[in-house]
Order: sequence, then structure tokens, then C-alpha cells
Amino acid sequence: MAEISKKTLLEVKNLSKSFGDLRVLKDISMEVEQSEVISIIGPSGSGKSTFLRCLTMLEKIDGGSIAYCGETAVTSESGTVCYAAKSDLRRIQGYFGLVFQNFNLFPHYTALQNITDAPIHVQKRDKQEVMAEAAALLKKMGLSDKGDYYPYQLSGGQQQRVAIARALAMKPEILFFDEPTSALDPELTAEILKVLRALAAEKMTMVIVTHEIDFARSVSDRVIFMADGLVVEQGAPADVIDNPNNERTKAFLRKMSEE
Ligand SMILES: Nc1ncnc2c1ncn2[C@@H]1O[C@H](COP(=O)(O)OP(=O)(O)OP(=O)(O)O)[C@@H](O)[C@H]1O
Ligand SMILES: [Mg+2]
Repeated sequence: MAEISKKTLLEVKNLSKSFGDLRVLKDISMEVEQSEVISIIGPSGSGKSTFLRCLTMLEKIDGGSIAYCGETAVTSESGTVCYAAKSDLRRIQGYFGLVFQNFNLFPHYTALQNITDAPIHVQKRDKQEVMAEAAALLKKMGLSDKGDYYPYQLSGGQQQRVAIARALAMKPEILFFDEPTSALDPELTAEILKVLRALAAEKMTMVIVTHEIDFARSVSDRVIFMADGLVVEQGAPADVIDNPNNERTKAFLRKMSEE
């Protein structure tokens, strides 16, 4: 019987990034396969957000390579960091989406406009089709009646669900989340975690930076513990969270459980 081969959606090799003299990412390699859910945990300042910002090309890297779906976005194989041509990068950017901690919705657009703007104006997709999909996404997020609301008229949890719908509307292969619940009260956090669980059940490929250790344990196929710009330990949640090898992982988890 033919083996079902998993598609590698993201391949990161030896990524490094400094701000001035501060080496924030030292040598990070990672692969993400289709339908994988990966949580990234680690202390404040360990480079988690910078890592996501490099992967989503909001930040330029200093060395290493990043490829999505087999297409090289950036590489330093030749000795200098070389990004793909603009038109290629635009296509590669279509492979991923990013959801921020602070929602980052356009304040002067309604929820619906936030969701439909890029698919219509950037992806140049059919307007009627995009509107229909946006309505379905709002429904899925439990926000059917909020399409015409502006961000300031929505709760933090509702804004974050609009932000998730906006990312999904671009039909990415892989979604990144940078602490999607840390700006939210516990009640609203639960709303968002429920949405993420539903996406995981639908086999959406996700990389989630989170401080929600219980959530990471229950939803992730793989947990990555980052400290000081390095991947210190990674593996199944049952290993990394419940039975860590590394002293730093142990100390971090101990501290988290005391909070
Ligand atoms: N634009 C920047 N300029 C200079 N230094 C930066 C910049 N962005 C991040 N840093 C530094 O890089 C280091 C890593 O920051 P980063 O935000 O990636 O950490 P983090 O793991 O996401 O932390 P947290 O859990 O608090 O969100 C920190 O020391 C930070 O001060
Ligand atoms: Mg961060």
C-alpha cells in the first residue's frame, strides 16, 4: 500500500536574528507538516514573537533559510541573505496568516470589511464569493450579527475572533498565532481557545505561541520550548510538558504552574 506522505508546509533552517548586539534568535531549525498543531512556549524575551515575525517576513533575518511549500522565501546559502523576488514573495505570503496578541484590526473598517478587504483588494478574488465566505466565517466565529460593527464596538474576544476570521479568509495553508489570548480575560480566553480547538479538529495547520500550558498540552501535536533564542527542547506534550528532560524547561514549567 502506498504510504501517505505528509506535506511539509514550512522548513526553517539555522535561522538567526540580532537587534544590534543582541542575538535574539541563535540557530533555529524547524519543520511544520500539514495538519500539525505546534505550540511554542518559553520565558518572556526568549524570542518567540521575533521568531514568528521573521517567519511571516515582518522582520528581516540575518542568516538561515525559510521555505513555504517547497518555495524558498529567503536563504543565506550564498553567504548573504537573499529574499525571493517581490512577485514570488507575494505568492509565498499567501501561504500563511498571522493573528496578533492585540488583534490589530483596522479601526475604521467594520468587522466584515476587515475580513473582506484583503481577499478582494489584495488577492483580487470575486467580491460576491468573498462576501459569502465572510458571512460563513462570521457565523463560524459566532459573530453573524456583528458584521457591521466597528472594532471599538466589540469585546476583546469578539475582536480576536474577527482577526481569526480575517486570517482564515485569505485561505492560508498555515496560521501563526502570537499569544492570541494574553490580552483577554479568562472568560474571553476560553472563547478563543474553543475556536482554536475547532480549527485543530478541522486539521488546520497552526503554530501557536502561548502561555496557556494546559491548552498547549491538550491541542498540540508538538510543543517547542524556546529559551534565550534557542529551541531547548521539543516533542510530544506528554514529554515536553509532563516529562521534560531539560532543567530550563523544568524551571519554566514550575514557574508557570505557580502563577
Ligand atoms: N524591534 C526590536 N528592537 C530591538 N530589540 C528587540 C526588538 N524586538 C524584540 N527585541 C528584543 O528581542 C528579545 C526577544 O523579544 P521577543 O518579543 O521576541 O520575546 P518573546 O519571547 O516574544 O517575549 P514575550 O513572552 O514577553 O512576548 C527581547 O530582548 C526584546 O527586547
Ligand atoms: Mg512575544
